[in-house]
Parts: sequence; structure tokens; C-alpha cells
Amino acid sequence: DKAGHKHFMAKEIAEQPGVIAQALGHYISSDGQIILPKPDIDFTAIDRLTMVACGTAYYACLTAKYWFEQIARIPVEVDVASEFRYREPPIPARSAALFVSQSGETADTLAALRYCAGKSDTILSVINVPESSIARESDLVLPIHAGVEVGVASTKAFTCQLTVLLLLALRAAQDRGEVDAKTLARHLSDLRDLPNIVSTALGANAEMHQAAIKLSEARDVLFLGRGLMYPLALEGALKLKEISYIHAEAYAAGELKHGPIALIDKHVPVVVMAPRDALFEKTVSNMQEVMARKGRVILVSDATGIEEFGQEAFATIEMPQISSVLTPILYAIPAQLLAYHTAVAKGTDVDQPRNLAKSVTVE
Ligand code: M6R
Repeated sequence: DKAGHKHFMAKEIAEQPGVIAQALGHYISSDGQIILPKPDIDFTAIDRLTMVACGTAYYACLTAKYWFEQIARIPVEVDVASEFRYREPPIPARSAALFVSQSGETADTLAALRYCAGKSDTILSVINVPESSIARESDLVLPIHAGVEVGVASTKAFTCQLTVLLLLALRAAQDRGEVDAKTLARHLSDLRDLPNIVSTALGANAEMHQAAIKLSEARDVLFLGRGLMYPLALEGALKLKEISYIHAEAYAAGELKHGPIALIDKHVPVVVMAPRDALFEKTVSNMQEVMARKGRVILVSDATGIEEFGQEAFATIEMPQISSVLTPILYAIPAQLLAYHTAVAKGTDVDQPRNLAKSVTVE
């Protein structure tokens, strides 16, 4: 049932405020504590975290690396499951392995989990389907409570994965004494406001629709971001490729001058994900390099960022202000909607894109 939407993907994008709130409700107690399912985990016994997944779930892991390293000061290794499983990576003592999967049945992710079983101290999984193989074979299962996701392009599962991973990073920081009570309470209160802010972002639909018309005429699109916006740029490019069949690539903005800038001309739209945070000025300087070569920038930022540099851009998409820690969850909305509207403009099969399956249970 598409609940009045044209596609399951549109329905699932619109459901995000509700499902994020649901996920938060399962992990934050009424007295403001982060509660994990049993048997729980003690992060003081862990010196290293290995995160493994495929596709969008892999980008959720890449995002979480920034949180675990910056907030909880735990070194994190992230890999795609198909590489990890055959590399025979050494698994250090006092380490945990974390697998992220919407379906819980992805063959490579499951094989990577089996490789770690007996080698890592703990096997954790962040999954959407609780009765899945990956869940069954984990020591600690963290469900994301996103509800059934039908669209092949993952949307609400991604933002719920991020929500649960951030809560886990905060809990790790708390265990390890890396965050004081006041800062933790502020993070949790920001998280509680998140569903409303995501609703507001969904309201910028008209801007995204217009920008998507431009994208639908392109052959190639580049996505740029720094810090937490880099994995999100990767996710934006994957979404666009997957459902609109337009070639899209993402780069860490600082990598632009190491090669991809050669691609820029007036035919290449460049989506720049840049909230007005500590890295904003650096990203803006990359954006200006693009514009100096006639590249058409679609700037996704907040009111302050757009006021400062929006007039130089070809199009702008305004997001509400939010604490920088939460920007990947919020900026997932424009990444998804840009891809969605572009695909609709091109007339592709949004929910069942060619050559793809919802769950990749074979190698
Ligand atoms: O079920 P999983 O989360 O393990 O699936 C992983 C990928 O196959 C999946 O995220 C895929 O990349 C999506 N189609 C992306 O939208």
C-alpha cells in the first residue's frame, strides 16, 4: 500500500520523521539514558571497531566512523563486505565487529560476519529485519525499527541506521568517559528535535523538484562534501545512479583538484552538500573552483550558508539549521529527493530499477 503516494520510495521518504522518532523511542529511556538491547556491551573493553556492510549500509558505516572517532575516540575501520571477506584481515584483540544491513540477508555481509565470529570479542549488528540470518548470528542485535522497506533504493532504513549508530557512538563515548553529562544531554535533546526538523526539510520539496529537472538533463553529475558530508555525497550519487541511471560520482571536496576537476564544464551539475559548519569555508572554496570552470553548482546548505554564497550557485536547496553532528541524517533528505524527482522526470521505474534486487542474497 503506497498510502496515496505515487511510489513506495516517496512513501518511505515521507515516513522518515515517524520512523526516526520510533527508533529514538526504543533507545532513549524516559529519564534520558541510552538503553541498548540485552546483552548490552561495555565499550571500555573495546579498543577498536570494525564496520562492514554493502551499498547504502556501507555509507551509513562510513558516516558512523566520523562519530565513533570524533565523539567516542574509538579507532574505526570500515570496509565493503565483498572486499573484507576475502582479504583475510587480522582481527586485533579487544575489538568489536559491527555489521549493518537492512535485510539482514546480504550474502557478502553475512560471510564477513562469519569470518569475524570467534575472532572478534563481540559481533554486533544493526539490522531492520529482526528474524534475519545476520541478526541470528550476532551477539548483540540493534534493530533500526524502520518498518518494511519496499523500494529497492534504501531511504528510511538509511536514516534509521544513522540514528541508531549515532546513539551507539554516544553510548560508547559515555562508557569511555569521552563525553560529559551536559554535552550528552544536549546531543539527546538535539536528537529528540530531529523528527520535526526532518519534517521541515521534507517541505523544501519544490526546490528539490526544480533542481531535479536540471539534473535529469545531465549525463554526468558530481557530488561533493567534506567531513560528515563526504559519505552523504557518496550516498547521494548512489541514489541518483540507482534510480535515474545517470552517471554520478562523489568525491571528498578536497580531492577535487587531484583529478575530478578535469571533468568540469557547463554540462556537469555539481551537487555540493555544505551546511554552515566548521568545514564550510573549505568546501566553498572548492565550489568556487567548480564555478570558475563554468560548472553548475547546486548548493545544499542552511540559511546562513545560502545567504553567504548562494547567489554564486546555479540553484540552492535550503535545509533547516541543525547541530553539525546531525547533518548527515538531515541532508539525507535532499540526497533522496533529488534522486527521486530526477528519476520521476526521466520516467524510470523508481521502485524496481533495472538490474537491481532489494536483497542481494547471492555473491
Ligand atoms: O539489505 P542490505 O542493507 O544489506 O543491502 C545492502 C545494499 O544492497 C543496499 O543498501 C543497496 O545498496 C541499496 N539498493 C541502496 O539503495
